Amino acid sequence: TEFITVGELASLMNVNPTEVISVCFSLGVMVTMNQRLEADTLLLVADEFGYKIEFQDADLEEELEETEDAAEDLEPRAPIVTVMGHVDHGKTSLLDYIRKTNVIAGESGGITQHIGAYNVKLEKGQRITFLDTPGHEAFTAMRARGAQITDIVIIVIAADDDVMPQTKEAIAHAQAAGVPMIIALNKVDKPTANPDKIREQLSAMNVLVEEWGGNVQSQEISAKFGNNVDQLLEKVLLQAEMLELKANPDRDAVGTVIEASLDKGRGYVTTLLVQNGTLRVGDYLLAGKNHGKVKAMLDERGKNLKEAGPSIPVTILGLDGAPTAGDKFRVFGEESEAKAIAVKRGQLQRELSIRTKKHTTLEELGRRI
Ligand code: GTP
Ligand code: MG
Repeated sequence: TEFITVGELASLMNVNPTEVISVCFSLGVMVTMNQRLEADTLLLVADEFGYKIEFQDADLEEELEETEDAAEDLEPRAPIVTVMGHVDHGKTSLLDYIRKTNVIAGESGGITQHIGAYNVKLEKGQRITFLDTPGHEAFTAMRARGAQITDIVIIVIAADDDVMPQTKEAIAHAQAAGVPMIIALNKVDKPTANPDKIREQLSAMNVLVEEWGGNVQSQEISAKFGNNVDQLLEKVLLQAEMLELKANPDRDAVGTVIEASLDKGRGYVTTLLVQNGTLRVGDYLLAGKNHGKVKAMLDERGKNLKEAGPSIPVTILGLDGAPTAGDKFRVFGEESEAKAIAVKRGQLQRELSIRTKKHTTLEELGRRI
């Protein structure tokens, strides 16, 4: 279980976050400002600064505990894929091409709205969910919030360029998260493309692609012209098969907030990724410190949906505010339950921003679902 972040703890104790970070380092815990600390780290760090932490309301924690699914209730689910890579190496081009060619082509309605995630259906009916994040920042923010939602990362590298700093960072993120990566060697249509040079640079950082006897899948592509993108997707599916991704569609939905905003006409609009269970219109939701009844549910084309199962991203209307990307959400049987927890979280967050004095009790602030 993770609790408040390094930054929040620092402000509670009225010290500089860098001091907290350095104490964490001295304890062998590598952290960043927005990272949530686990209970034992929290106790030790606070102790270093002369504070004693009391955890309260342990019951709430139990109430929110994940129920385990029985093996026989699990069904295969689509892989959730994030595309990362250096600036201009072709992430958007790749996502656009995939979307253009695979998102329910020919269906009426036309205008594809911006949505932070979408699900594509391939020729043979297999599905893949893509998280259309602005790359590293979103991924880092999600990770910092303890949200691990990506099953596979596609690292896009322009073959007419080099393995760049952001490429290395992306690889490091995937490795740190233990998420398998697939290398897309992009822009091979260019005469100046030299994929072998990239493979060599990768091997120099211990990332050995299959062609070179390693176990990292890779595919030469042209995102611009769509060459070999289907092969790349085959590799994604192959990787997904090895991961044996499963979920239980027959339970109340839980998942993660992808993005949220306030729309003038429609109120708070929240994109959610269902990770387990099935989300339905009319469900009562708790998402971070917000709650509400799902009034409407839309896919990335603005089409109304009645329900969304595991690995399906949806945009919903009906929350009382905008939760933060990376917040977990879950469905409750009673609106009052969802509301009580949301209100409590909201209160605690407000208190946190004004309390900096000693002997503050951290309570269950920010406990994750
Ligand atoms: P940022 O979002 O800015 O980080 O860039 P990006 O990684 O999304 O790259 P984007 O898809 O915007 O592509 C950058 C430029 O490279 C654009 O001008 C694309 O047309 C071009 N480009 C992308 N893929 C290919 C390709 O396969 N071949 C060629 N020739 N050009 C490409
Ligand atoms: Mg882009």
